[in-house]
Amino acid sequence: MNYGTLYGVGVGPGAPDLLTLRAVATLKRADVLALPRSSDYGASMAWRIIEPAVGKINGQERLFLTFPMSKEPARVRRAWDAAFVKIGERLESGKSVAFATEGDPSLYSTFGYLLREAPRRWPGIRIEVTPGVSSIAAVPAALGMPLADGLERIAIIPANYGVDDLAAILGAFDTTILMKIGSEMPRVVAALERAGLIDKAAYVAKATMPEQKIVTDLRSVRAERGDCFAMVVVARGERKGVLAGDVPPEAALTGVEPA
Ligand SMILES: C[S@@+](CC[C@H](N)C(=O)[O-])C[C@H]1O[C@@H](n2cnc3c(N)ncnc32)[C@H](O)[C@@H]1O
Repeated sequence: MNYGTLYGVGVGPGAPDLLTLRAVATLKRADVLALPRSSDYGASMAWRIIEPAVGKINGQERLFLTFPMSKEPARVRRAWDAAFVKIGERLESGKSVAFATEGDPSLYSTFGYLLREAPRRWPGIRIEVTPGVSSIAAVPAALGMPLADGLERIAIIPANYGVDDLAAILGAFDTTILMKIGSEMPRVVAALERAGLIDKAAYVAKATMPEQKIVTDLRSVRAERGDCFAMVVVARGERKGVLAGDVPPEAALTGVEPA
């Protein structure tokens, strides 16, 4: 069967001007935009990000797909079964479908499952993935800090799947990124306090969006929960690249030559 092409398009962390040129071109030429959202009544973050650049195009369908934020396999499977039917109908009629996904499609993205399943459901289908600016890049930019330098190592943790081993991770890596924090914030803050790293951590919600919020004293957001777009970055800053030590920190930031 001649299926339409399936595109997975990363649309960046929130600011519409962080969409790539390739993402905009792909989204504009697709017959169907598949737009994930977390409830039937809620807005799609992907659509909010792309609407200013892509707009409503004559003849292009906007297919909103609901994926509840749930760890219950049966609920998630039901949502996917419904989505596969809708996406499949379009692909089987030869239409191209661009699945827009927040940040980058390779990182905790709804598109990941579609990418794995598509060749099985639609053998021989052409799939193209367009990378996007991930929150992993947007958050350090908002904080004005490097994630890692020289020999430093990074860990990425989906906190909503448990932080029991956080102390060990904080000890083993120079920089730890906690995503999908949800209701784990009190446990994250407690673990950071126990590890003596609370002052090395920053919390960023909705990086690059108009509602962006940066908190450097995590004790003040101990009870915070529920922001779907929030991340904690813990940077020990104990090891640096080859030039560290040669340049005073203030000179390194401004590019001033040391005296
Ligand atoms: C389901 S994952 C999707 C990640 C996305 N694919 C990416 O590349 O950034 C959602 C998590 O990403 C992080 N996140 C996504 N966008 C963010 C933003 N604009 N600011 C802060 N964190 C963000 C949060 O930790 C959130 O819980």
